[in-house]
Amino acid sequence: MSKSIRNPVEHPNEHATFAASQPQPKANPGDAPREASTSGKLEYDPQYILQVRDLKKHFPIKDGMLSRVTGYVKAVDGVTFNLKRGTTMGLVGESGCGKTTTGRTILRLSGDKTAGDVLFNGKEVYDFTKKEMHDARTKMQIIFQDPFSSLSPRMPVGEIIGEAVREHKLVPKAEFNDYIDDIMDKCGLQPFHKDRYPHEFSGGQRQRICIARALALNPEFVVCDEPVSALDVSIQAQIINLLEELQEQFGLTYLFISHDLSVVEHISDTVGVMYLGNLVEYGETDDIFRNPLHPYTKALFSAIPVPDPTVKMKRIVLEGSIPSPANPPEGCKFHTRCAQCMEKCRHEVPAQKEIEPGHYVVCHLFDDVPEAGSR
Ligand SMILES: Nc1ncnc2c1ncn2[C@@H]1O[C@H](COP(=O)(O)OP(=O)(O)OP(=O)(O)O)[C@@H](O)[C@H]1O
Ligand code: SF4
Ligand SMILES: [Mg+2]
Repeated sequence: MSKSIRNPVEHPNEHATFAASQPQPKANPGDAPREASTSGKLEYDPQYILQVRDLKKHFPIKDGMLSRVTGYVKAVDGVTFNLKRGTTMGLVGESGCGKTTTGRTILRLSGDKTAGDVLFNGKEVYDFTKKEMHDARTKMQIIFQDPFSSLSPRMPVGEIIGEAVREHKLVPKAEFNDYIDDIMDKCGLQPFHKDRYPHEFSGGQRQRICIARALALNPEFVVCDEPVSALDVSIQAQIINLLEELQEQFGLTYLFISHDLSVVEHISDTVGVMYLGNLVEYGETDDIFRNPLHPYTKALFSAIPVPDPTVKMKRIVLEGSIPSPANPPEGCKFHTRCAQCMEKCRHEVPAQKEIEPGHYVVCHLFDDVPEAGSR
């Protein structure tokens, strides 16, 4: 009999059982109350596996003996993007800007959302019935930064990879062993690895186990949350190559969260740049890297090392630290650190604008530039 499956929301440090069946996620006690929707129904566009509109996730700040809610951490505060089937979207931004929370909220792993829409294959994830959510758990997966803490130390690798396959009855019993062998082979693991325990593997191999565990469920969409950050540089390339091969073979769609801009440039078709809970710029990877428009994107990208020693780097150093998401600045949230800040930036929230086809920016510097479609 398969082991019982625990909800990672209740066991935040043990991601091992994430992939398996779970009770339908409920609102956590004290979750920020849902904001009333002000926009109409989001229309399904079949080219997109994922459509996210104005997504918000606010965490309550509790104080005192009675745990009174005194405010909210606005970790995700209005994120909008569409993700095409079989492509990779990179998500970048400073630590604490809300990348992980965006990924987890899309997957419905952080209690209730505060506002916005998340359509997965045209269906609102937060309207799924218990049965739909159970089925969707196999289709939407996550790979974490730290493969060691996300693998149960007391289970052999074959069990770890096969646990949720059994739970979801994805293959007939007679085919189970061959199925697991095949998945392990696709992820660069040997059949004899099945009986070994996570501590007997290197960091790169452990990440292969995590990928195999996700792949075994035949997913369509995978959130890769810093999947190579904890690995040696030489191993990073192997894992990136593996993710790319699997994407091609199985038509996977990735949301790839990373601090490493070179990796993001390499693996992503589109890139979103996040600051204090919002996307400030979003578009095709080439457009974002060759022609960054937002002052924050420019500063972030100015730190990328240039391979040519004759070319002098013009690094833009951001003054101050990222403000608290519990008390974000008014107007443009970046105005406290922006060298091009104007008076209206302090009071008016800039609107998202499509400057080139598919290239969006949120900044008052572009207020007078006509939208791409209207030129
Ligand atoms: N469960 C939670 N309860 C309260 N606050 C949270 C919770 N999870 C995240 N936060 C806060 O939300 C903000 C965004 O966190 P998140 O982990 O999404 O950032 P991140 O961009 O992934 O950062 P990093 O690059 O360091 O991983 C942070 O201020 C964080 O402290
Ligand atoms: S809106 Fe103003 S403060 Fe914000 S990034 Fe643009 S110029 Fe800077
Ligand atoms: Mg994170």
